[in-house]
Amino acid sequence: MSQVAIAGAGIVGMSLAWRLSQAGFTVTVYDKGTVGGEASWAGAGMLAPGGEYEDDSPAARLAIESRSLYPAFVRELEKATRSTIDLQETGALDLAYSDAELQALAKRADMQRRIGIEAKRLDAKQIRTFWPRLRTEELAGGYFYSGDAVVNPREVVSALRKATLANGVQLREGSAVLEARVEHDLVIIRTEAGESSQAAFVVAAGAWSGSISLQGVPPLPKSEPIRGHLLGYQQPEQICQSIVRYGDTYILQRANGLLVAGASVEHAGFDRSLDLKTVDRLQKQAAFVMPHLGETTPTEAWNGFRPGSEGLQIGQWHSPRIYRAYGHYRNGILLAPVTAKLLTEEISASLEMR
Ligand code: GLY
Repeated sequence: MSQVAIAGAGIVGMSLAWRLSQAGFTVTVYDKGTVGGEASWAGAGMLAPGGEYEDDSPAARLAIESRSLYPAFVRELEKATRSTIDLQETGALDLAYSDAELQALAKRADMQRRIGIEAKRLDAKQIRTFWPRLRTEELAGGYFYSGDAVVNPREVVSALRKATLANGVQLREGSAVLEARVEHDLVIIRTEAGESSQAAFVVAAGAWSGSISLQGVPPLPKSEPIRGHLLGYQQPEQICQSIVRYGDTYILQRANGLLVAGASVEHAGFDRSLDLKTVDRLQKQAAFVMPHLGETTPTEAWNGFRPGSEGLQIGQWHSPRIYRAYGHYRNGILLAPVTAKLLTEEISASLEMR
């Protein structure tokens, strides 16, 4: 029996469903809402190890590997679905508005070089020339990360929906997994609509993962929502040729013209209401970096729940029947291809051995 159920139809669960279906498994994906309707919809789409990792760690290594998998992953998905996905090899520019900030960037770039993340120092004149929309007063310089990139995660998920359906994956939207029970050589999945027997069950439900009850194995590591607000400014032309970062602010532009600025990091539970103070702060931060944004109001503001946990949760959980694929925190979009690859390998090896 090679039936696998996945809880969570975000970019991680859907990438895994695609890879498992390619490997010959019969896959059902359950989601309490809709395909890609939560963090994968809200995410900016930065494929940016340069902005996220300084030291060597398993997560940093996975992020670098997943970044290298992305172009082929997107090309294969485009081909399978005859669609186009906005993936731009833009690089990312980190800005410094004082000598102290520039020194801090230099120190960070040195540390990152040791783990294979390269950055090149640029002076203020070079930045003024190539990024004419950025604030230039007090600009001390910056570091350019040529390996960072941008993808539109909504387009990735939409293509994954098509690709998985074409491979026979069953998508059960509006159907949350409430419980999974390990019994002998099976796992029984309980949803509001009833029960089904599976050979393996994967929890890929982002911030909601820890709430799925397990019987026959220890409870899952906790998960928690880390809320992030973002702003969108629809622009008439392409004005931002790379990701731009300053402190905890980032700005990028999608091929459809939407300039995205983010993002807050908040422990606010599953509260979806827009916090106007946070929106105001983000607006000011974005306008500091790109002054013309101060003269316009955002066309959109939204928030989403990053999947927080006690670290990255990838792999088997106390039984060859149960697997985790959550805890990706700020890097779910980036880490989706490598998570899908690793779990497809692990589940294939584990189920073939039995
Ligand atoms: N990946 C950027 C963020 O989570 O805001």
